[in-house]
Amino acid sequence: MANTPASVEDVATGLKQVGYLPGESTALVSYLATQLGKPVLVEGPAGVGKTELAKALSKYLGRKLVRLQCYEGLDEAKALYEWNYRKQLLRIQTESDGTGWEAVQDDIFGEEFLLQRPLMTAIASADPVVLLIDEIDKTDQEFEAMLLELLSDFQISIPELGRIDARTQPVVLLTSNNTRELTEALKRRCLYLWLDYPDLEHELQIVQLHSPELGEDIARKLVEIVHMVRELDLKKPPSIAESIDWARALLLLGADDINANTFKKTMSVIVKHRTDLDTVATRVGVKLEPQATDARPAA
Ligand SMILES: Nc1ncnc2c1ncn2[C@@H]1O[C@H](COP(=O)(O)OP(=O)(O)OP(=O)(O)O)[C@@H](O)[C@H]1O
Ligand SMILES: [Mg+2]
Repeated sequence: MANTPASVEDVATGLKQVGYLPGESTALVSYLATQLGKPVLVEGPAGVGKTELAKALSKYLGRKLVRLQCYEGLDEAKALYEWNYRKQLLRIQTESDGTGWEAVQDDIFGEEFLLQRPLMTAIASADPVVLLIDEIDKTDQEFEAMLLELLSDFQISIPELGRIDARTQPVVLLTSNNTRELTEALKRRCLYLWLDYPDLEHELQIVQLHSPELGEDIARKLVEIVHMVRELDLKKPPSIAESIDWARALLLLGADDINANTFKKTMSVIVKHRTDLDTVATRVGVKLEPQATDARPAA
């Protein structure tokens, strides 16, 4: 069932209901996107919920999710549309001799011979969709330029067919891990959302949502440790994704506290670089050791 939010609170509640706990600016920008029809550029470190936001919005709005996963070398043929050469060839072969080229040509460059790729699917859909253009920073600038045209006019020009206008307007989310600076032209056309690591209480709620069986005390300790680890100067600080994995791992192992021993055994769930492991073991691991002074009977 399609949903049209009436307020920012509506969006916040709706996203929660489908399992995504938005921060204030996330709910606000998502609401504006549905009202203004502008694409949203979501940037931030890995594993903070950029992709998941698009999935959650699609569930909440009751719209299909169309996803374009970007990579180096992605081109129009894979993103927009492509002619179905095999079908065209077959069509030409089945034509009886004597039919003029003109007649065949008109036929084989019709919509029936077009293969729709995600961007075209999104604007040609009869029901409005959520379009996720994931990891746009992996593509090159020419691709970005092509995208701009689509995002500002919501139309596609196909030389053999002419202009194809959008049947419906999608809610568009572009995500980026910031591996390269995106062009000003693209940023100008988008609303901007910066997703960062959440604060302690927010992250605790997210972890509890994903692992409700984990006790409150241990969940809180987990998040506190993750925050401590993020303070260190690491190659790759743990993200929300790692906190969630760690909670699941601790549950599976039946841990009811995170002491030095449990931490040592499981810290590779949240830290994934050899050098980071050493840093974390010495800086955080030792803090969890029972203090020698505690063990001594009071004098
Ligand atoms: N606000 C949130 N509420 C609920 N779950 C969340 C939230 N933020 C992140 N998560 C969870 O964290 C995990 C990672 O999220 P996601 O895959 O969207 O990260 P990402 O930012 O797209 O990372 P990458 O840049 O590596 O693709 C997912 O399992 C997602 O469910
Ligand atoms: Mg992602």
